[in-house]
Amino acid sequence: MSRNHVRNICCIGAGYVGGPTMAVFADECPDLNVTVLDINPEKISLWNSNDLSELPIFEPGLDKVILRCRNINLFFSTDIEANIANADMIFISVNTPTKTRGIGAGKALDLKWVESCARQIAKFATGHTIVVEKSTLPVRTAEVMKTILNSSNDHSKSKTFSVLSNPEFLAEGCAINDLKNPDRVLIGGEDELAINELANIYLNWVPSSKILRTNIWSSELSKLTANAFLAQRISSINSISALCEKCGANIEEVVDAIGSDTRIGNQFLNSGPGFGGSCFQKDILNLIYIASNYGLDDVANYWQEVLNLNNWQKERISKLIVQNLFGTVTGKRIAILGFAFKANTNDTRESPAIQVCENLLEEGANLAIYDPKVSQESIELALGVKETSVDEFSELSSWVKCNSDVEACIGADAIVVLTNWEQFTNISLNKLYEKMRKPAWLFDTRACIDIDTAKKIGFNTWRIGI
Ligand code: UDX
Ligand code: ADP
Repeated sequence: MSRNHVRNICCIGAGYVGGPTMAVFADECPDLNVTVLDINPEKISLWNSNDLSELPIFEPGLDKVILRCRNINLFFSTDIEANIANADMIFISVNTPTKTRGIGAGKALDLKWVESCARQIAKFATGHTIVVEKSTLPVRTAEVMKTILNSSNDHSKSKTFSVLSNPEFLAEGCAINDLKNPDRVLIGGEDELAINELANIYLNWVPSSKILRTNIWSSELSKLTANAFLAQRISSINSISALCEKCGANIEEVVDAIGSDTRIGNQFLNSGPGFGGSCFQKDILNLIYIASNYGLDDVANYWQEVLNLNNWQKERISKLIVQNLFGTVTGKRIAILGFAFKANTNDTRESPAIQVCENLLEEGANLAIYDPKVSQESIELALGVKETSVDEFSELSSWVKCNSDVEACIGADAIVVLTNWEQFTNISLNKLYEKMRKPAWLFDTRACIDIDTAKKIGFNTWRIGI
């Protein structure tokens, strides 16, 4: 069977995965026409905005790629019907949050957006279409996808489909580099022709030795396993950070010592306030759900502990802040530096800052939050509480978004660093100290501040793992 080469591709979902991934596809493959689709017209108009600072996601280097390709071979559109009909290959990059109700609530993935995409593709596609799962999906979702795609009752256009799994391994904040220089590209599927078509796209910039071909279930499970392993490293090192604080060891020295064992490696070993982001918790919950469904309760319990430790870390940090501030933060102003789940992104999904801020608000604190990229709306959405204006600060808990670290520190009793933004490593500690109420505290959950200098200036300090 021969098929036409892939020329037109589209991606359903213009979010943190779909946007950067398709931008790099367009940049690396000038012969491809790439269209990114979304049901949200506001998001699409931001992707099309002439002011590149308005792009709906912040990702270093993304603006330059957009500038090179947009309206040349990269398009952003809400016209889902026409673009699906025109596409030879369709990527699915829609949201797959954890279910909040019904069977598997709190663990299983909610596939309603994926299912709705499959139905749209079944309805509008023409000829042969390769459908590629990019979103992280539970093992065997491809089967559901195939069933929906093949149940289209409109046979007049002789539609056929191949389903592939091609999970995304990009990390936010360095997505463009990850996409341009991937450690590996994973393609799972049965249809050799379709696999070759997708591999040929990547071969424009990825060496063939890095393109791994697996069966579809291995591909889907590999994504969950990769994220579970990475998250497990963080929970492991965070557990040791707590131990260091008790016994007088220094977490950074421990990390240097263990990281120089090549079997362990020195990456992804920074202790912090716990992992966040849209993937780790969701994927581990999904792994737990799958293991339980297969009756593997010990496997499920093992991975549950990685999540439990992550939550414990956030709780323990919140508690030690309150304890050090004489057991109460009611009516106290606390400067929160960083709200994103990691540096170089405006994404707050599952950010550890959310839990820590919620705990401090529960204790009656007045939070002054500064993050270089996170908007006031995102903080409001994440905390589920409206911003209160500065002059309304009172015994009642409240939060306000500040435009600089200095503004956040005016009258504050403590600084809590929650995101590892580069600018916080070069922060002007003297200036901040001046603005604060004394005694002034500095809690560094990301080990990014020069703590010796802070002490010399007069701060009381707590730094993770020391
Ligand atoms: C992750 C995976 O890395 C990526 O391959 C997958 O495709 C999606 O999920 P992402 O969530 O974007 O990417 O960021 P990542 O860099 O993995 O960080 C996740 C969380 O772990 C962040 O909250 C980060 O601050 C934290 N982290 C990371 C640490 O606490 N310590 C570290 O050493 C590394
Ligand atoms: P991710 O981090 O996985 O990219 P996001 O939430 O950032 O997740 O992006 C997913 C995008 O998918 C959202 O912009 C959402 O509007 C879009 N989306 C969800 N369902 C559909 C659909 N059926 N058709 C088009 N776009 C969709």
